[in-house]
Amino acid sequence: MGEPLLRQVAAPVTRFDEELASLVADMDDTMRALSGAGIAAPQIGVSLRVVIFELRDNPRYPHLSPVPYTVLVNPQLTVLDPAEEEGWEGCLSVPGMRGLVPRYRRLRYQGFDARGAPIDRSVEGFHARVVQHEVDHLDGILFPQRVRDLRNFGFEDALAGHMTPMPD
Ligand code: NI
Repeated sequence: MGEPLLRQVAAPVTRFDEELASLVADMDDTMRALSGAGIAAPQIGVSLRVVIFELRDNPRYPHLSPVPYTVLVNPQLTVLDPAEEEGWEGCLSVPGMRGLVPRYRRLRYQGFDARGAPIDRSVEGFHARVVQHEVDHLDGILFPQRVRDLRNFGFEDALAGHMTPMPD
């Protein structure tokens, strides 16, 4: 947090080539090493519209329904329901901290996988949350900017016990 590249609007991917494959591999390694549920290219210093996410037995997010491993390039979101839901979020670029963030409960996302094949899914709950969090990174937004009441933002250790479980 504070890194200028994380505040930029990232550029669309124009070629589904080896360079993109190697960027995705680097993002994969970083996400897994840090037990993240997702990561966006700007978080490893590349200002391109690429995010990946997955949730499967993640120690940082227990008790949540799994989210399939997804590489999403040039994502477009369509809100399917204006209803929002608050949930606790963390971020690999804001280590050790958590905040209560409102997100749309249901949305459709479209984009491409790493080989350029189209993706079109309608999702809800944590799956919708993680997509919104990652796509925010592509628009230069970090989750603390979405926290409505800063009393609900703090160090993970201090908040433990006060945080309600994240919805799934
Ligand atoms: Ni993040």
